[in-house]
Amino acid sequence: IKVTVVEPSGERTELTAPTDMGLSLMEFLKASEYPIQATCGGMALCATCHVEVLDGPELREPSDDEAYMLESLPTSTSRSRLSCQIKLSEEIDGIVVRIAAED
Ligand code: FES
Repeated sequence: IKVTVVEPSGERTELTAPTDMGLSLMEFLKASEYPIQATCGGMALCATCHVEVLDGPELREPSDDEAYMLESLPTSTSRSRLSCQIKLSEEIDGIVVRIAAED
């Protein structure tokens, strides 16, 4: 699937992501050497994997845990999601995410 990443600097990169490895978007971004801390390791507890979804397919609604974290995040917007809670799958093919600037 195609994943387009927009860095805080505005630079856009289109990547091809595997859907058969059970990875989350957070794990994929980390593996692609984007500055995602993911301190909690994908438990929806730290919000350092925060991204803004700029475009692409409709995503599933956030879980209560994710919604709670996003609400408590001062830099979150209506497009914010925790990338650890998004699985790489055909459902998100064509997604465009902006990596949040370091807080
Ligand atoms: Fe901690 Fe996503 S990695 S909330």
